[in-house]
Amino acid sequence: MTTSSSGQGVSLGMPELPAPDYPDDVRARLEQDAREIIARYPDSRSALLPLLHLVQSEEGYVTRTGMRFCADVLGLTTAEVTAVATFYTMYRRRPSGDYQVGVCTNTLCAVMGGDAIFEALQEHLGVGNGETTDDGKVTVEHIECNAACDYAPVVMVNWEFFDNQTPASVKRLVDDLRAGRPVTPTRGAPLCTFKETARILAGFPDEREGATEAGGSAGPASLMGLRLAKGEAAPARVVHPRDGGPDDGGPHGRPRDAAVHLSSHDAPQETSASDPSHPQGPVGEEGEG
Ligand code: FES
Repeated sequence: MTTSSSGQGVSLGMPELPAPDYPDDVRARLEQDAREIIARYPDSRSALLPLLHLVQSEEGYVTRTGMRFCADVLGLTTAEVTAVATFYTMYRRRPSGDYQVGVCTNTLCAVMGGDAIFEALQEHLGVGNGETTDDGKVTVEHIECNAACDYAPVVMVNWEFFDNQTPASVKRLVDDLRAGRPVTPTRGAPLCTFKETARILAGFPDEREGATEAGGSAGPASLMGLRLAKGEAAPARVVHPRDGGPDDGGPHGRPRDAAVHLSSHDAPQETSASDPSHPQGPVGEEGEG
């Protein structure tokens, strides 16, 4: 949409609809795929997320044409499709590279080196967040927690994990990607291009040899909590800030069992109102009891 008060168009950044349609042959192919996806759901609109991956696999990002296609085949408005496509960060809204290199800069990864990796990577490639290298190979972006905190700092390439990274290892990684050298994720399926990944996410089988078997099992860091729960691993030393250490007596002088750390959910701690060091309880507002 444009507006003008002086004869010159001013973009308001709004989508210009209706978008052009796909060429006939592309639309026919995508319609066939879409029918297969929609048939999996009792309510056709539930197929919107995989359909957005499908159109992303066609052009590498979710175009206005792709959103129009989704709206057409699902009987939705383009506004409804746009609302979903712009909500989820897995859908790209502009052209980008074959390899989306996402550096986790959420809290744990950040303090473990994610911030340093992100900075070094941008400097190494000469691109900023969300930008793509001139050769069209690598798009850099910072991403939020990907539930791999036990391997922080984590980098993802087309949603495949590269664990325990450093600035040096990530520079090597993107250099290999740009040079076409083979790159192997720490776990999971072998790497493929962003478009190929999008088609798999749309729900079509990954037909590469060995890809579905290469799931990768949980590593020692992920299993530590389970081992603790089973009593197979030595309990971690728990520091109790209010008492100075695990060897102190617990609240009210009760001996603390060093092998058992009860969370506040297991055994609610006494409040300061019953804490012997604060026998009068918390200081109330003036005028309160
Ligand atoms: S904080 Fe990076 S994976 Fe969770």
